[in-house]
Amino acid sequence: MMSSIAIRGVVCLLFWLALVTKSQGNTYDVRHYGAKINGHSDDSQAIVSAWREACASPNPSKVVIPAGTLMVGAVKFQGPCKAPVIVQAQGTLKAPTDLNKLKSQDGWIVLQNIDGLTLVGGTFDGQGSTAWAENNCAKTGKCNSLPINLRFNMVNNSIIRDITSLNSKLFHMNLLGCNNVTLQHVTIDAAATSLNTDGIHVGRSNGINISDANIKTGDDCVSLGDGSQHVNVEKVNCGPGHGISIGSLGKYHNEEPVIGVTIRNCTLTNTMNGVRVKTWPASPNGLARDLHFENIVMNNVSTPILIDQQYCPYGQCKAQVPSKVKITDVSFKDIRGTSATKLAVKLVCSRGTPCQNVEMSGIHLVYEGNNGSATSQCVNVKPMFTGPLFPPACASSLSS
Ligand SMILES: *[C@@H]1O[C@H](CO)[C@@H](O)[C@H](O)[C@H]1NC(C)=O
Ligand SMILES: *[C@@H]1O[C@H](CO)[C@@H](O)[C@H](O)[C@H]1NC(C)=O
Ligand SMILES: *[C@@H]1O[C@H](CO)[C@@H](O)[C@H](O)[C@H]1NC(C)=O
Ligand SMILES: *[C@@H]1O[C@H](CO)[C@@H](O)[C@H](O)[C@H]1NC(C)=O
Ligand SMILES: *[C@@H]1O[C@H](CO)[C@@H](O)[C@H](O)[C@H]1NC(C)=O
Ligand SMILES: *[C@@H]1O[C@H](CO)[C@@H](O)[C@H](O)[C@H]1NC(C)=O
Repeated sequence: MMSSIAIRGVVCLLFWLALVTKSQGNTYDVRHYGAKINGHSDDSQAIVSAWREACASPNPSKVVIPAGTLMVGAVKFQGPCKAPVIVQAQGTLKAPTDLNKLKSQDGWIVLQNIDGLTLVGGTFDGQGSTAWAENNCAKTGKCNSLPINLRFNMVNNSIIRDITSLNSKLFHMNLLGCNNVTLQHVTIDAAATSLNTDGIHVGRSNGINISDANIKTGDDCVSLGDGSQHVNVEKVNCGPGHGISIGSLGKYHNEEPVIGVTIRNCTLTNTMNGVRVKTWPASPNGLARDLHFENIVMNNVSTPILIDQQYCPYGQCKAQVPSKVKITDVSFKDIRGTSATKLAVKLVCSRGTPCQNVEMSGIHLVYEGNNGSATSQCVNVKPMFTGPLFPPACASSLSS
């Protein structure tokens, strides 16, 4: 039998160890940095402190955010780190509803300048419903005043998986300047009526794979902005939402080309568009090439296949001046299901720079309404067709 003195000694030693080594085997649990996880105390500082120590560790390390509800203000996971870091979350992080508490940065949770990040698990609840009411970009064209739920800036060689983003105030996730990043099994959920809540936006990034995502939102499920290169989107369920988009492109000067995008094995349900490429009229020169859409199921999608080089929401452009974004080497293959409107395939390219080398094969889209059958339109494009095509190719062919 151990004496009580010995037991007390052991207890003291353990207590002392717990105090001086907040980490165990390079695991940094936010509770050891003061996180209360009680649904009302602000746990931001605890998360930042745990991150800073993990990031400074010379060996691979892990930040743990346990189950429960954490109130979290604007937080930045800032690199570079000395070694790869895993951030493993089980809990639900909730953003403040008060926008004034998020003014310090342009995203709620920002992960920046990190090589070798693994972000796994956790629910990120932007509590955006009150903010949507303040989003007046339908009038101003500027929607940047609201924070993005999760921002990945200059993150390389990283994996983001099994995370959930709810009710973001603006976009759910934004990747900017990232290289070699995999997003796997991401769940996104916001009301169909929420404004500018794009699911995953990628810009100026190379080597991004998005797979097995379930996205319900009020804007594009996935949108790929300028400088998106070598991006694969696979097995994404989208809807409600505005579909999967490349663009919009050509609104700004100095945009980088979009090169090498594959969208495959996706299902879109009750969305406003299916797969689309959109560019602004009166644009500077630009380029989008090597864009491939394959094996896609459309369920009651309003415009399943769309190239729109006259994209001009809210009349914010000189619509009569053609877009100078060149769209070339595009394929639409095995795209089938139902269209909620009669015009199921709409290819409206620019009269200034017509689309080139567009291929279509295995299209079967049925109009669900009772005003005849599905139709298609081609403007400033002469696609190459193979295999069975329904609706028939370029049923109305115009040049504008
Ligand atoms: C990420 O990769 C880019 C391009 O290779 C490089 O310029 C940047 O320094 C890298 N960032 C980090 C945090 O390693
Ligand atoms: C890409 O990132 C993964 C980690 O997600 C890493 O294992 C792999 O080596 C990286 N590839 C390159 C070419 O750096
Ligand atoms: C993405 O998938 C492609 C094709 O499956 C693969 O070649 C590439 O290495 C993957 N990249 C990442 C970042 O996972
Ligand atoms: C896409 O679906 C096809 C047909 O169902 C299948 O053969 C292929 O392996 C799938 N590809 C990916 C990357 O999931
Ligand atoms: C089909 O889409 C239309 C337009 O988005 C919508 O009004 C209608 O409810 C949808 N039908 C079904 C069966 O979901
Ligand atoms: C029926 O389709 C034709 C074009 O095919 C269109 O002009 C007309 O407006 C449609 N009618 C209704 C009620 O949608």
